[in-house]
Amino acid sequence: MTGTDAATRKRLFLRTWGCQMNVYDSARMADVLAPLGYAPVEAPEGADMVILNTCHIREKASEKLFSELGRLRDLKREREATGQGMVLAVAGCVAQAEGAEITRRAPWVDIVLGPQTYHRLPEMVARASRAAGAVIETEMPVEQKFDHLPEQVASQGITAFLTVQEGCDKFCSFCVVPYTRGAEYSRPTAAVVAEARRLVAAGAREITLLGQNVNAYHGEGPGGRAWSLGRLIRELAEIPGLLRLRYTTSHPRDMDDDLIAAHREVPALMPYLHLPVQSGSDRVLAAMNRGHTAAEFLAVVDRLREARPDLALSSDFIAGHPGETSEDFAQTMALVERVGFAMAYSFKYSPRPGTPAAGAPFQVPEVEKDARLQALQALLRQQQDEFNRSRVGLVVRVLLTGPGRHPGQVAGRSPWLQPVHLAAPLELVGQEVPVRILAAHPNSLSGLLAAGEGIPASLSAEEPAPA
Ligand code: 5AD
Ligand code: SF4
Repeated sequence: MTGTDAATRKRLFLRTWGCQMNVYDSARMADVLAPLGYAPVEAPEGADMVILNTCHIREKASEKLFSELGRLRDLKREREATGQGMVLAVAGCVAQAEGAEITRRAPWVDIVLGPQTYHRLPEMVARASRAAGAVIETEMPVEQKFDHLPEQVASQGITAFLTVQEGCDKFCSFCVVPYTRGAEYSRPTAAVVAEARRLVAAGAREITLLGQNVNAYHGEGPGGRAWSLGRLIRELAEIPGLLRLRYTTSHPRDMDDDLIAAHREVPALMPYLHLPVQSGSDRVLAAMNRGHTAAEFLAVVDRLREARPDLALSSDFIAGHPGETSEDFAQTMALVERVGFAMAYSFKYSPRPGTPAAGAPFQVPEVEKDARLQALQALLRQQQDEFNRSRVGLVVRVLLTGPGRHPGQVAGRSPWLQPVHLAAPLELVGQEVPVRILAAHPNSLSGLLAAGEGIPASLSAEEPAPA
């Protein structure tokens, strides 16, 4: 409880689009507003404050935002007609990129705030209630944001996210992140470790370290020396009660020896890695300013697999980047065949205003982009199905995260991030248990609790394996 009683409690509706960084940021915004009496609600109707946390990466981000803002204008007017107010805020990367445009096209928006100014939300809310026009805060002093955010208050549950790094200096030709999230910044190791301990104390058993370029992490450690992500992972793995660690999103260029070694040496580091490659053609990779070739990416994959033979990979791909020929695309397909991905996200190239690729000559025709994306997705889907099927019959360690969809069912997560459903008592939630996988579905697995360490024979659906 925050000490606010029901009469003064204000309703906060947060809508989040996009990446896990945004999900994390939304939770932090809820945290900074909690002392002001704001508690989260499930719908915008009746809310005292609505925050739309936006994402600029996907297509039509601003159109989606403006249509949502149109609906909210009506809600806000209805509330004002009954003498109540609604503070309307737009946060995230669209706010960062299009702040002035938002207040011009949607003057009923009260606050526009970029990703680095969330700690100033309470002050902005106060100013918005006095100001005639919108309050716009889109500066980028990222260090201040982390210094001023309150210590995490709400439990995130069994699986939690922890932002360790923000921003990006890589300037890939197609990407808005360096413009919207600003320069790379790593949080000091002490702050990260303290937050991880708090998350574990609040019940987290798996932590995913977040950053746009997470493996470029170089936070200040004890004595002022920078720690790499590998070093940080080794430290976090020592926290009692923390069973699993992951990190996302990585850049192939930043997979250093120490991080690869951590995959070999740290059992808590899960054998699953999201490593975007975008294309399999050296020509396109150069045009994208990725700073590596296809062969260099494959060499990293080989080293990772050597370090951790059960490692599964996921990736991001763009079909139809400017200048991509059908031969270039064939090389992307060949790279996918060579690697074999457990999962992947693939996108049709779509120009982002202000990025170099948007103004590049030789834009690929829409029909061609569509055809390539379809072919790529068919192959990736096939690989995902194969990977899921390859788990059938195995006993895998599943971290139980909460109740499943049906009574008596529990949901969990495999080491490879697959959702797993099984019949098990809810008391086991929070534990890693052995599960025999019986069936693979398009996006999940199902199985039975297997006999094993810590599982009473009475709960197991299986005979113990012979010694
Ligand atoms: N067009 C298509 N896909 C893009 N991505 C980023 N920018 C664009 C764009 N302009 C994809 C990349 C990135 C993922 C998060 O989104 O694959 O890795
Ligand atoms: Fe964008 Fe490239 Fe930075 Fe990733 S590495 S956030 S794709 S600029």
